[in-house]
Amino acid sequence: MIICHCGVVNGDTVARAVDAGARTLSQVCRSTGAGQDCGTCVFALRRLLCEHEASPHATLPEVESAAS
Ligand code: FES
Repeated sequence: MIICHCGVVNGDTVARAVDAGARTLSQVCRSTGAGQDCGTCVFALRRLLCEHEASPHATLPEVESAAS
C-alpha cells in the first residue's frame, strides 16, 4: 500500500528502512524519500515506524542486555 503518494513510497519500503536502522521519522523520510513534499503522509509514516519497531521481529536493546 502506498503511504506517501508524493514520493510513491509504500509500507514495505518504510519497513525495510527501519530494518536497515532508521529510528526516527526524519531518518525514515531521508532514506525513503517519503514526507518530502506535502506532508500528508507524516502521521502514517510515524505510525508505521512505531508499529514496525514494536513488532516481534524487532530486537529491543533492553531485552538484549537483560538476556546477557
Ligand atoms: S504524501 Fe508524502 S509528502 Fe505528500
